[in-house]
Amino acid sequence: MESAGKQVGVVFGTIGTTNFKIAITDPTVKRNDYVQARHEECGFVLGQVGEVQRETDLTIANAQRISTGEQVTVGEQFSGVVNIIGFRDENNVLQVPRTPFKAGDSVSVAEEKLIRGVLGLKTDIETGAYIGMLKGHPIRVYLDINNLVQKHVSILAKTGGGKSYMVGVFIEELLKRMVPVVVIDPHGEYSSLMHPNLNERDQKFMGRFGVRPRGYAEQIVEFSPDTTINTFSLPLKFDETNLDVKDILDLTGMKSSGPHVGIIQHAVKSLKEIAEDYSLHDLIQVIREDKNAAKWAIVNSLEYLEGTGLFGEAPTRPSDLVKEGKTAIVNLKGISPDIQELVVTRVLKKLFEGRKLGKIPALMVVIEEAHNFCPQVGQALCSGVLKTVASEGRKFGLGLCVVTQRPAKIDKNVLSQCNTQMILKVTNPNDLKAITQSIEGLVPGMDEDIQRLPIGVAIVSGGSLTSPIQVEIRVRETQHGGTSVDILQKKQAGAAPGAPSVLPAAPDMPGAPQGVEPAAEAAPATGAAAPKEVSPSTVFDNESPIVEEQETDLDYDDSEVETDESTESERKKKDRDPELEDG
Ligand SMILES: Nc1ncnc2c1ncn2[C@@H]1O[C@H](COP(=O)(O)OP(=O)(O)OP(=O)(O)O)[C@@H](O)[C@H]1O
Ligand SMILES: [Mg+2]
Repeated sequence: MESAGKQVGVVFGTIGTTNFKIAITDPTVKRNDYVQARHEECGFVLGQVGEVQRETDLTIANAQRISTGEQVTVGEQFSGVVNIIGFRDENNVLQVPRTPFKAGDSVSVAEEKLIRGVLGLKTDIETGAYIGMLKGHPIRVYLDINNLVQKHVSILAKTGGGKSYMVGVFIEELLKRMVPVVVIDPHGEYSSLMHPNLNERDQKFMGRFGVRPRGYAEQIVEFSPDTTINTFSLPLKFDETNLDVKDILDLTGMKSSGPHVGIIQHAVKSLKEIAEDYSLHDLIQVIREDKNAAKWAIVNSLEYLEGTGLFGEAPTRPSDLVKEGKTAIVNLKGISPDIQELVVTRVLKKLFEGRKLGKIPALMVVIEEAHNFCPQVGQALCSGVLKTVASEGRKFGLGLCVVTQRPAKIDKNVLSQCNTQMILKVTNPNDLKAITQSIEGLVPGMDEDIQRLPIGVAIVSGGSLTSPIQVEIRVRETQHGGTSVDILQKKQAGAAPGAPSVLPAAPDMPGAPQGVEPAAEAAPATGAAAPKEVSPSTVFDNESPIVEEQETDLDYDDSEVETDESTESERKKKDRDPELEDG
C-alpha cells in the first residue's frame, strides 16, 4: 500500500454510517487496507477497505474479438467499499460518526497513529510481544504480554497452517521478557528454540522484520518421561510418596464415588497410621489385602501406574520446571497417548498448586495438540485439570496457550476462555463453525477470510484489540522444529531452480530433523517448478515472507464434528506411532 496520508479514493453514491463507497483513484489499494477520511464533526475516522471492484465496459462481443487476437480498448474504473471502524473521542473511547461522510470527501491511506489508537495496538515495546507486521502496512504489531498471559490465548489453524511456527515466535518474545514458560510438546519440536534460525528463506526476510538469528540455549531446559527416546532431555519423574485418595483418583481416572473410593480411603488411612511415608508399592500391597472384590480394578490401575516408570526417586518439582526467564519443554515424543495424558495431568496439577501456594512465579503453559488433552466429546484424563486451569488459572497467574488443528474437537469451554485468538488458515467447515461460534468480535465474512489466509498470516482477535486484525507473522529468530517430511526426497540434480535449501541442523540438536525440508519450501518431487511466492502483499517492501501453501490430496475434509470412540481409538493408535508423522 502507498505511504500514509496519500489519497486513494473519493466518497461517492449512497453513503451510510457503517460503510460507504469510494471511487478508487489509486489501484494499489487492496481489500483489508486501513484508510482514513476526515469527518466534519469527528475529525479523522479509521475505516477498512472491504470489497474492491474493477468495472469495465468490455462487452461479450468485444471479449470474443480479443480471443481472435484483435486489439480492443477496454475502459475500466475501480470502486470499493469502506467499512467504518471509528475514532477515539476526547476520553479515548471508541466512537463511530453518527452522520454520514459527504460525497466528494477524500479517502487516504491511514496514518500509523490513527491505526494504533483506534485498533488498540500497543506501542509499549517493553511489555509487548512483537509478533509481526499489520498486513498491508509497515506497522509492527505488539500484543500486551500481561493480557496474553493473564487471559489465555488460542492458536488455531489446520495442519501445516503455521501454528507451531507462530508459537515459536511467541515463546521467543516471552524468553526475551524473562517470562517463564512450560511447553507440552507431543512431537518434540520445540527444543530447536535453542538454535538460531539458519533457514536461508527465512533469513531473506529478517531485515524486513528487524529480526536476527538467535538461539536461546541458556534459557531452555528440556524434560521427558522417557530419556531413552529423548536422549537430550532430563528425566521427568513424579513423586510417588504419600499419594492421597484424590491423587489416586486423578491419576487413574476413577470416579469420585463407588466402592473403590472406600477401599482406597481405608488403605491410605491404615498406611498413615503405621508409617510416616508410604510408596505406591506399599499402597498396592495394602489394597491387595482388602476383602472387597472391587479391589482388583484398583490394584490393576495402580500396578499400571507403577509400571509406567513415571514415579520414582528424585521427582521433578514445579520449581524445576518453572524458573524466571526459562522455558521448560516437556518432550512427549514417542510417548503413548495414555502416558501423555497422565503426564499432562500431573504437570498441570503441580503447576496449579504451585501457583496457588505462590511457590513458583507466574507463567504461561503452552499445550500443543490441545484437542487430544481436552476433547469436546469423551474424556481425557487431563480434561478436568485443563478446564480448571482455563477457568481459574488467570486468578493465580497461570496462563494457557491452547494450540490445536481441530477447533471443532476441543472442549468449547476451554476455547471460549481464551481471550486472545490467533487464527491462521482453517478450511474444515466444522472447525470454521467452532471458531466463529466461540470467538467474539468476528465480523461477518471473516470466515471467508480465514479460509483464504496465506500461510504466514494470522487473524488476531480479542485482548486489547477493538477489532480483529491481520498480521504477517514475523520470521523466527530460532530454528523451527516442526518441519514436514517429504515422502520423496528431492534429488539435487532435479531440484527446481531457485528452490531454497535448509542449512543442516546443528549436530548436537536434540531431535534435529535429518535430511528433511519444510513442505512449504521443498520443491515438489514431480520436478515441477518450485512453489512460487505469492505476489507481495505490500508495496512498502517488494518481498513478503508469505508462503503459498502447497495443496495436497492429503488435506483432510472430514465432516464429522464429533469424536466418537472409534475415531478416538484410531487417533490413539496413530499417536502411538508418531515417527510416521514427524520423522
Ligand atoms: N510465519 C511464517 N513464516 C514463514 N514460514 C512459515 C510461517 N508459518 C509457517 N511457515 C511454514 O509452514 C510450515 C508449517 O508450519 P507449522 O509447522 O507451524 O504448521 P502447524 O500448523 O504447526 O502444523 P501441524 O498441525 O501439522 O503441527 C513451516 O515448516 C514453515 O516452513
Ligand atoms: Mg505444529
